[in-house]
Amino acid sequence: MNQEELKQDIRRLARERDALLLAHNYQRDEIQEIADITGDSLALSMEAAGTHRRVIVFCGVHFMAESAAMLAPDKLVLLPRADAGCPMADMVTAEGLREFKARFPGAPVVTYVNSSAAVKAESDICCTSANAVRVVNSLPDREVILTPDRNLAQYIAGQTDKICHIWDGYCPTHERLTVADVQRARAEHPEALFMAHPECPPAVLELAQHICSTSGMYDYARTSPAKAFIVGTEMGILYRLRRENPDKQFILPTSRLICPNMKLTSLEDLHKCLQTLSPQITVPADIAARARVTLERMLAVPRD
Ligand code: 13P
Ligand code: SF4
Repeated sequence: MNQEELKQDIRRLARERDALLLAHNYQRDEIQEIADITGDSLALSMEAAGTHRRVIVFCGVHFMAESAAMLAPDKLVLLPRADAGCPMADMVTAEGLREFKARFPGAPVVTYVNSSAAVKAESDICCTSANAVRVVNSLPDREVILTPDRNLAQYIAGQTDKICHIWDGYCPTHERLTVADVQRARAEHPEALFMAHPECPPAVLELAQHICSTSGMYDYARTSPAKAFIVGTEMGILYRLRRENPDKQFILPTSRLICPNMKLTSLEDLHKCLQTLSPQITVPADIAARARVTLERMLAVPRD
């Protein structure tokens, strides 16, 4: 089958299987093109929670499919590549977090959705890059524990009066973006605004005109009168940015902004996944029961 035939057959199979195709904003262009819905972690979690379809195919990484499985427990949740993980999520374990919590008794744990279900189960509430500051400020406590992303946590700490105890994890992809990369891009495109994901290192974020989640970047690019943008996040975001704003220019400050895990899923993988209805993602019932509460608490935090 050529690529076009493969795409048509994926659509046919998705209809037959009553499957909803979700794709994160970092997925390959052809996967984003064929998905029912593309979005950031928060938007996709909410879609998973609200769908009437029987099957959810999550083109993303493992923790995202786990969240979908917990928010839609009566659905069959599939991850086309079982090996698509997230190195940042792997930087904290449930046991490690229990030890960390013991050092700050009473402080609630706010865990970034980029984490395993077992870590969520040890937490009090989840957050995404789109709602992190809102979630932290919604808590009555004076001190909070933030895990696993130290860069997102530092960004939150700058936006809240709370005392933040920060776990030392990071995203290897965003960590690769340097101040020198941004300065070089600025020198070449002095008119461009720099928008950055909060997973970038603090020194890089200091240079940003706008800090937001991946979906926040679509809104910013669309509504800003600027005509050029330096993009501080994974390169998969360029697909929709360029398609939705054909008159604007988007500059990736370094070709190192690529997440190998997000790029694993191919059309062939998606096709096979719909044919075989596997690999299925499930979460043990005891962990799911506790972790689901942390996700639901997050979804219940009022929007501004
Ligand atoms: P958002 O899509 O929520 O901004 O998350 C970025 C990310 O790194 C997902 O792996
Ligand atoms: Fe994990 Fe970073 Fe890849 Fe997102 S971009 S999946 S945080 S490694």
